[in-house]
Amino acid sequence: MADTPKLLAVGIVGYGHLGQHLVERIQREGKAAGLRLAFVWNRNTDKLRGSVPEEFILQQLSRFTERNVDLIVEVCHPQIVKEFGAQFLSRAHFMVGSPSALADPHLNQQLRQAAACHGRTLYVPSGALWGGQDIQRLNNNGTLSALFIRMSKHPSCFRLMGDLLSDWEEGEGRRVLFKGSVSELCTLAPNNVNTMAAAAIAASRLGFGGVTGEIVSDTELSQFHVVEVEVTGANGFFVKTVRRNPAQLGAVTGSATYNSFWSSLLCCEGHGGRVYLC
Ligand SMILES: NC(=O)c1ccc[n+]([C@@H]2O[C@H](COP(=O)([O-])OP(=O)(O)OC[C@H]3O[C@@H](n4cnc5c(N)ncnc54)[C@H](O)[C@@H]3O)[C@@H](O)[C@H]2O)c1
Repeated sequence: MADTPKLLAVGIVGYGHLGQHLVERIQREGKAAGLRLAFVWNRNTDKLRGSVPEEFILQQLSRFTERNVDLIVEVCHPQIVKEFGAQFLSRAHFMVGSPSALADPHLNQQLRQAAACHGRTLYVPSGALWGGQDIQRLNNNGTLSALFIRMSKHPSCFRLMGDLLSDWEEGEGRRVLFKGSVSELCTLAPNNVNTMAAAAIAASRLGFGGVTGEIVSDTELSQFHVVEVEVTGANGFFVKTVRRNPAQLGAVTGSATYNSFWSSLLCCEGHGGRVYLC
């Protein structure tokens, strides 16, 4: 009789929009894709009851070590990455859904070291970023000289710290909210700049301080988020991509990003002790 192939055991941390999508897909399509659920954690367990079988509900996140898990996926909050990221990497591969957490240079270093030390991969999902692996290749061969990302959305899709956008009116058109380093943007709009954070991780030689981002509010964008990426390399090399990501009014996450996360998950089979854009 042929051996049954081993399924990759996946722990999902966070049961919001992305977490629910991934849990549902693992339950529905996991076996065919080589995945099975190891556990689901959410800070409020009540949210899991009724939709996640009891055996998969993890009550306390610190007890993830009691589960047999190959890959842990954070789709929750940067704070959880800070508190548990290194521990996760000591036991499993780790896909960080909130890469804006890595704007903290200490945490960034800590997670890279934990991955290297334990031979486990720190996966960064490309989300709405187009060409992330190409950016990483240019970065690694030392020919990436500048990177700029502009994200334009309807004002209802932004979640900003402070009151940069408290006074918007329908029909007002386009307004540049902020232009500066991705590091500054991660503080200002941590939920809106994960795509830029993924780019800054791919472009590690420029880093969060060296990659430039811009956020633009545009009342015309009632059906799409627009992500523009400009990559400058050596000897006049230049690439510009424009991605239109379908999104409903008020949605922080574009609908194509859910499929993108699932595709990213399917890549996380282990790529050694390093950071890997997937
Ligand atoms: N990488 C990307 O391209 C990308 C795209 C979309 C969202 N994200 C990020 O992924 C994460 C999840 O996104 P979502 O759309 O599912 O969000 P969501 O708001 O729908 O869900 C977040 C979940 O985490 C919980 N949570 C929030 N703050 C918490 C905290 N401090 N401690 C513990 N639990 C907390 C909430 O209760 C909720 O269950 C967010 O950090 C978001 O910024 C990344």
